Amino acid sequence: MMEAQLGLAKDSIVAVIGSGAMGSGIAQIAAASGHPVRLFDTREGAAAKAIGEIGKVYARLVDKGRMGAEEAELARERLQTVDTLDGVKEAALVIEAIVENLDAKRTLFTELEAIMDERCILATNTSSISVTAIAAPLKHPGRLVGMHFFNPVPLMALVEVISGLATEQAVADTVYATAQAWGKEPVHATSTPGFIVNRVARPYYAEALRLLQEGAADAATLDAVMRDGGGFRMGPFELMDLIGHDVNFSVTQSVHAAYYGDGRFTPSVVQQELVNAGFLGRKTGRGFYRYGEDASKPVA
Ligand code: NAI
Repeated sequence: MMEAQLGLAKDSIVAVIGSGAMGSGIAQIAAASGHPVRLFDTREGAAAKAIGEIGKVYARLVDKGRMGAEEAELARERLQTVDTLDGVKEAALVIEAIVENLDAKRTLFTELEAIMDERCILATNTSSISVTAIAAPLKHPGRLVGMHFFNPVPLMALVEVISGLATEQAVADTVYATAQAWGKEPVHATSTPGFIVNRVARPYYAEALRLLQEGAADAATLDAVMRDGGGFRMGPFELMDLIGHDVNFSVTQSVHAAYYGDGRFTPSVVQQELVNAGFLGRKTGRGFYRYGEDASKPVA
């Protein structure tokens, strides 16, 4: 379908679907890298709010001397919300960062395929769902690839570029080169459940949750041990609060199902209860910890 090339042209439009934690981070770096960005979210006002927050991030970067004032102004101007999916149809690359659910992602990409140019690359930021399965209903599944960023997107260098069984190599290569042009350190991988990082990380969370359930120590102590003693950047519970328990629980369920119920990946009832309660972590003000006014008070 397409020749191998060195990433997207700087002036190519990038569309980001979903303006939550990941989508807004992706929009931030795409605009800062020179691309006009179209941001779409089904939640009313969410995309506009995300752009407002990104503007504040750019302003802080200017204050810290890490971004020029004019550069920040230009990047901010490149960010636009669109009210309907139709508004993204001129994009050369669409990056999907919606809910971690196969049916929702398939529906979205099928709708996109109907309106996008055939050369447009369709990328999913899924953490764990088979890229092969997301692409399967498409007429041109070769143009769909995983572009898996890590949270927080502006700070985390790694991007997993995931090829499903049908993904064209030129598509994966273009996304790889684009991630490099955005200052990231991409790695090519195939569509195994959880890909690389989430596969390795699942038992890390699972064992920490088992220790908590067994009463070995509270979440704050276990975090401190792993962070300060083990040398991890974050402990498992603060990391799960950052990721969001809805997202993290879905990822565990999906990896568990993909490995036919392998016990190493069994989801935890502790996590399920947090999701049931709507205590999704930082984004809702409460998870294992409280955020905002009661910050850093352990609740687990
Ligand atoms: P989030 O819950 O913060 O944001 C998702 C956004 O998508 C919400 O604003 C929601 O309104 C919107 N949305 C839902 N369905 C939509 C649709 N059909 N069309 C347009 N917008 C829609 O979720 P988050 O954390 O940003 O995750 C998004 C994706 O990125 C998921 O697939 C997740 O697995 C993946 N991911 C998440 C990471 C994390 O640490 N949170 C890390 C890497 C990947």
